[in-house]
Amino acid sequence: MTGLNYERVPWKDVVAVASVLMACYTSFKYLKNRNELNKPPVKGGVEELIGNTPLVLIKSLSKLTGTEIFAKMELSNPAGSAKDRVAYNIIKTAEQEGKLVRGEPGWVFEGTSGSTGISIAMLCNALGYRAHISLPNDTSTEKLALLDSLGATVNMVNPASIVDPSQYVNAAKKSCAELVSKGVRGVFADQFENEANWKIHFETTGPEIYKQTGGHVDCFIAGCGTGGTITGVSRYLKRKMKRNPPYTILADPQGSGFFNRINYGVMYDNTEKEGTRRRHQVDTIVEGIGLNRITKNFELGESSIDESIRVTDNQAIKMAKFLSVNDGLFAGSSTAINAVAAVKAAKRMRRNSRIVIIACDAGTRHLSKFWKEAKTVDSNITLEEVIAD
Ligand SMILES: Cc1ncc(COP(=O)(O)O)c(C=O)c1O
Repeated sequence: MTGLNYERVPWKDVVAVASVLMACYTSFKYLKNRNELNKPPVKGGVEELIGNTPLVLIKSLSKLTGTEIFAKMELSNPAGSAKDRVAYNIIKTAEQEGKLVRGEPGWVFEGTSGSTGISIAMLCNALGYRAHISLPNDTSTEKLALLDSLGATVNMVNPASIVDPSQYVNAAKKSCAELVSKGVRGVFADQFENEANWKIHFETTGPEIYKQTGGHVDCFIAGCGTGGTITGVSRYLKRKMKRNPPYTILADPQGSGFFNRINYGVMYDNTEKEGTRRRHQVDTIVEGIGLNRITKNFELGESSIDESIRVTDNQAIKMAKFLSVNDGLFAGSSTAINAVAAVKAAKRMRRNSRIVIIACDAGTRHLSKFWKEAKTVDSNITLEEVIAD
């Protein structure tokens, strides 16, 4: 009889060899994939560095409160704050609407005393546009120097109320309208009212936090400047975690009206009323958060905010030093406000509860004002002393 004698084939050996080969192949594929995953990413431009920011455990606060307090590191964005997401989405939306055309000259106008102007200036450089930023003439020197270095056109105006036509937001809108009327392509970013603001936090920051925590967040804390961050993130988390939604807290600096608005339904009292004060509408050393008017980006998220916690400048200054000394987290003023609110909230939460706060920008943006005071705080300050008023 010709052919293979099946009875004489050493099947056991064949199976053993095949298994070894299979195991080698699987291990090879696994190691190859792992190496691919471990490779630092390659990006097609600075704009691709926006988002996907890390979540970092604040060890000192977590240990001392018996909870887990995480910071969403928005300061890791390429121009140093959460505003990169907003600026990019505003520009992309303007492009979709045909108000700006990639590859052709165009201007982006904004009235901002803070980070948004810096994000816009960086992105305009990256995408081939020009930035025109109107701001109050008492803006911190770091921010002015940054805008100047980035090549933005800077229009400094006297600090004024929103009802004054020369107020910086109104000034930006006017400058934009003047240029557009001459046939030049330009767009007014309008971060307070523009829905591209909260939507990008709903589409990116919220989902990132959800994924990074495996869907386990008991409490979310953010300050409110335009309202874009707190609205976008809290609306996303509340919708995604319908059965067990996180408790949302708006951390508010002294002098801001949101505390009263959220807790008592009244935006401000007469002493804080927009249009009555001459210089600073919100009397705080903290920059970027606190307001005495209702913006569209706040209004659209108001019903998803459960409570507001007021934090004094003094507490924020002490917290900034505490985080720097104990965690190496060199925080900006709004991050410090959020951290104080987190500790106050943690004191009434269950053990091991998980709190996520926004770390919007770093202390480097605040050296000449906020950190000038924070650096003088005793390095050995305790958390109890930080929280005491
Ligand atoms: C440093 C800083 N923190 C927090 C915020 C508040 O973010 P939002 O405008 O999304 O409310 C801002 C806004 O400008 C900011 O500049």
